[in-house]
Formats: sequence, structure tokens, C-alpha cells
Amino acid sequence: MALLELKNLNVSYGSKKNKIDAVKNVSLKINEGDIYGLVGESGCGKSTIGKTIVNLIKASSGSILYNGQSYDLYKKSKKNFYQFVQMIFQDPYGSLNPRMKIGEAFIDIMEAHKIFNSREQRIKETEILLNKIGLSKKYINRYPHEFSGGQRQRICIARSLILKPKLIIADEPVSALDVSIQSEILELIKNLNNFDKLTFLFISHDLAVVKNLCNNMSVMKNGVIVESGNAKKIINSPENDYTKLLIDAVPKF
Ligand SMILES: Nc1ncnc2c1ncn2[C@@H]1O[C@H](COP(=O)(O)OP(=O)(O)O)[C@@H](O)[C@H]1O
Ligand SMILES: [Mg+2]
Repeated sequence: MALLELKNLNVSYGSKKNKIDAVKNVSLKINEGDIYGLVGESGCGKSTIGKTIVNLIKASSGSILYNGQSYDLYKKSKKNFYQFVQMIFQDPYGSLNPRMKIGEAFIDIMEAHKIFNSREQRIKETEILLNKIGLSKKYINRYPHEFSGGQRQRICIARSLILKPKLIIADEPVSALDVSIQSEILELIKNLNNFDKLTFLFISHDLAVVKNLCNNMSVMKNGVIVESGNAKKIINSPENDYTKLLIDAVPKF
């Protein structure tokens, strides 16, 4: 059974008169342990798929199965849903509350979801999470502006781990970072996949990154998936003409 399955998903924006069909009849399956790449040019509907999976946007039709279950089964307990899937975004600057120390932000989430019952335990857990993503526990008392872009993205990743999800939707998580920092974050994602058995949907417009990181992938164009399968196979011998164009556009390939 797939960990996440999208079946004939359609997502639109706007009113009837001004409708934008951002995602059209998309089906895909992500298995446990995958780092599943979702690639395509800007505006093709990648983020819309991610946001629909975490229920920030409602699909107009089609279905999403989370570990074989519909969202309705998670509705009663949001905690259960967010223990299943979390999303991280491109912009680590906009994702953190500038007025909250990192530790307080993490403790707040644990309080809201009734994770642990003492402040001491929550502080300890925050330190463990920071350590896991490669930051010293002394950073617990710092504000977001005191960190670099790469450190902030690490913090966003750590925050997404608080509820111990099975699946993380990573929407262009390295696109806003310097190339040297990008590889550190990609290494962190690989490690979380390897050692913590976390599954990722990795959204990117960068085929070089996807080739290096992902096992399976889908290629999107104008809201439609044009090709899906093993990432190396697709990149080495694409079948779809649009995929060929995307690959030809990458100078090093
Ligand atoms: N909130 C929104 N309201 C209206 N249209 C949107 C909204 N968000 C995205 N779109 C449109 O939906 C399409 C897909 O966007 P998006 O999913 O953000 O693409 P990608 O992440 O691949 O760049 C684009 O045409 C975009 O302009
Ligand atoms: Mg996007």
C-alpha cells in the first residue's frame, strides 16, 4: 500500500468566471521510504499539490489517501493528521515568527498538541530536535533573525519533526539558499530519510538536485503529470517530449 496516493486530483482557484485549473487529473503514489521528486516549471501546479495534500487548499475533485485512509478519518483529530504529514516551504524567513525565540515556538507547538506535560520535557525535546538537524542546543534562546538562511531552514525542518510525521512535503526547500548551503540541507534530508525512515515529497524545479536526491519522480506541465517513474531512469532516458526539453535546458546533463 502506498503511504500517500493521489487519485484523479483536480484543484482550481478563483470563481466560476475566472477559474484557474491549477492541477488537472493528477494521480501518483508515494511509497514509504521514498524521496519522491515533483518537478516542473514555475506555475505548473507543484505547490498547489503540496498545499492540497496538507489540506491548506481543498481539491475540487478526486481523492487523497493517507496510508490508505481518507482525510475524513483524520478530521476528528488534527493531531493525528499532522502526525502523519507536515510541510516545509521555500522561504525560511517567512515561516518563522520573528518575535518568538526558537525554543518558545517549539514549546508552543508541543503545548498545543499536548506533547509531554512539563516545560522541562519540552525544552529537552527541543534540544534533541536542534541537535538532530545539526544546531547547538544553545540556540534555543535565539530569535529567527539571529540565524542564517540555511540555519533557518534547518530550524523549519526541526519544527516539522516535532509531531514525528511519516511524510514531509518539502516545497522547494533549498531554492532560496546559496548553492553551498543547498547541499548541506539536501544531506540533512537524505539522513532523515535514511536513519529516521522519513518519506519526502520533494518539490523542485531543479532536475540536477532531483537526480541526486530522489528515487521516484513525476514531471508536471500546466497542471498535468506528463511522466512518472524512477528518477534516474527518467532523467537518463526520458520518454516524454516535455521532460526531454526540461533536461536539455540543464547545462551539465
Ligand atoms: N492563491 C492563488 N490564487 C489564484 N491562482 C493561484 C494561486 N496560487 C497559485 N495560483 C496559480 O495556480 C497555478 C499553479 O501555481 P503553483 O501551484 O504555485 O505552481 P508552482 O508551485 O509549480 O510554481 C499558477 O497558474 C498560479 O498562478
Ligand atoms: Mg511553487
